Amino acid sequence: MSLTFKPLTPVFGAEASGIDLRRPPAPEQVEAINQAMDQYAVLVFRGQPISQDEQMAFTRTFGPLDIGFKKAANRQMRLKHFELADISNLAEDGSVASRDHFRIVNNMANQLWHSDSSFQDPPARYSMLHCVITPSKGGETEFADLRAAYDGLPDDWRAEIEGLEAEHFALHSRFMLGDTGYSQAQIDAIPRVRWPLVRTHPGSGRKLLFVGVHATHVVGLTVPEGRVLLSDLLEHATQPAYRYRHSWQPGDLVIWDNRSTLHRGRRYNLDEKRELRRSTTLDADHAEASAPAETATA
Ligand SMILES: [Fe+2]
Repeated sequence: MSLTFKPLTPVFGAEASGIDLRRPPAPEQVEAINQAMDQYAVLVFRGQPISQDEQMAFTRTFGPLDIGFKKAANRQMRLKHFELADISNLAEDGSVASRDHFRIVNNMANQLWHSDSSFQDPPARYSMLHCVITPSKGGETEFADLRAAYDGLPDDWRAEIEGLEAEHFALHSRFMLGDTGYSQAQIDAIPRVRWPLVRTHPGSGRKLLFVGVHATHVVGLTVPEGRVLLSDLLEHATQPAYRYRHSWQPGDLVIWDNRSTLHRGRRYNLDEKRELRRSTTLDADHAEASAPAETATA
């Protein structure tokens, strides 16, 4: 049984087969997956009933783990491993949580286009999302290829954004949704990070348009002008031609490269159970971020 990859769209994404993720991957399998990630950016593995332990073991073979914003949240965790993000609408006893439960409120920002942990340095490299329970409809995850987005930019847009940086902040998406229950001390304690709008994906060598909802403003522009620019760029990057929509089945594992894609969850009936578990690796060896000279209050 050897690993094979079948493209999902003309632009990016592939379905992988020929591997049992319950067992640690062999070095040649890790290399094949890394190469496929560089090419396709999103890989779908169907029919993989992995445990939490098996998901963590598989993820660790691809690098150090990211825990993202969770390290600042200090919340009670339902899952066995601290590094597993609980992308569910479930309460601690496994029942459907109330709509104002912190997990549902926190996970709502997942439905805006973003790259995981782009608000920190190092950010996330691979995210691995495993499906346990799906609602009867909705709750899909959509992906957008930022390399194709760059390729499709008009020349004058490329010239306009070359050399510009955007500042990313962990709470920006939450503020946008009205989740503002943070003290000024908590807000000031979270560092900001700046990323170029145009980056080069190290594995494929392709340029990409690095935007997403964690970006608060463009350095050197007024906040309103920068936000209008970011909004236009995001709209361009997430147009249907650059998207893949994944409809979940229990047992699916989807891996995406946060360096070259954006993603968002889609709405579903919060009265029905939905459970996904995300593990994430850090992009530990990049060299493109710059720290703000002073904290902005965008
Ligand atoms: Fe995410």
